[in-house]
Amino acid sequence: MLTLGIETSCDETAAAVYHNTDGLLSNALYSQIELHKHFGGVVPELASRSQLEKIAPIVETALTQARLTLKDIDNIAVTHTPGLPGSLLVGTCFAKTLAWAKQKKLIGVNHLEGHVFSSFIENKVPFDHICLTASGGHTSLYLVTGYGSYTLLGETLDDAAGEAFDKIAKLMHLPYPGGPVIEKLAQEAHFQDYYHYPRGKPHSLAFSFSGLKTAILYDLIKRKAYDLSTKTFLARNDHELQIKVASSLLVCVADIFEHKLAHALSLYPQVKAITFVGGVACNTYITQRLKTFAQKQNISFFHPSRAYCTDNGAMIAFVGNYKAQQGIFSDLLLDIR
Ligand code: KG4
Ligand code: ZN
Repeated sequence: MLTLGIETSCDETAAAVYHNTDGLLSNALYSQIELHKHFGGVVPELASRSQLEKIAPIVETALTQARLTLKDIDNIAVTHTPGLPGSLLVGTCFAKTLAWAKQKKLIGVNHLEGHVFSSFIENKVPFDHICLTASGGHTSLYLVTGYGSYTLLGETLDDAAGEAFDKIAKLMHLPYPGGPVIEKLAQEAHFQDYYHYPRGKPHSLAFSFSGLKTAILYDLIKRKAYDLSTKTFLARNDHELQIKVASSLLVCVADIFEHKLAHALSLYPQVKAITFVGGVACNTYITQRLKTFAQKQNISFFHPSRAYCTDNGAMIAFVGNYKAQQGIFSDLLLDIR
């Protein structure tokens, strides 16, 4: 059985083909990072226009890479929630039209379920496990008990972790996306905790990153590196300050993740593994910290390769594949949310 997965929830146009026994056959992607860089974040209207241009060629590329044609495909899985409405509409309408015209089974997939199961593309992950998903739009902890079976344990009350990296980078006049830039700077400072920013409440499974952003802003003001009235970063040439902020921020976020995971493990002692997924899981320092933490707890740790951490079609095709095996399909009334 062959499932085509389509992902257009934000600024990536992605498609992939998954075979129920042979696994992933192709994974094609068009990233809009260059398009939005100039604005310091994703511009929804530009994102959906670009999705519209790229969706057909990306689906064709995924089929060609897999040496298949649309005729061979059994199911079309598509992200229909959550995401930017315009972007979601492009993928969902495209998938519905193809499914109707070519008589394929349609499967609506939740983008977050895609991330939660993204570590299965390359690994056999045991149940039950805890999944920490951290991206530009979401930061959540799940207890995962089976394919399609997962419970939200806690999520961010305000900004997502990746969003915090992006906003703090912007504060210091650094380019978008902030995560990779912050990581590079922190490397230079050898991941030392210079400024020890607040970690929040360790005995809650909810996250909050907006307070961290404000704490850093006030710290920069105190150091005369930021002028609040003109919203200007005054220390553009102070490389040492930038690397110290980046380094302290990264250590702080890794500590927060570790505290939350420790609390979750104390509540769910049956857990056999931790998975770390989403765009922030591209971060080598945080991943290494969480791996070491899991080792100390005597449980396994899994995180996907970079291509499956950031938004991708493979995770949508993977979820579509197990939903098809479970007989869970959508009809043409499938709508975006
Ligand atoms: O999963 P993703 O590609 O898109 C969303 O669904 O949001 O995640 C993008 C986020 C951005 O906020 C970006 O700054 C962050 O992931 N990110 C990183 C790194 N690479 C990307 N954060 C920390 N360290 C990185 N190396
Ligand atoms: Zn995502």
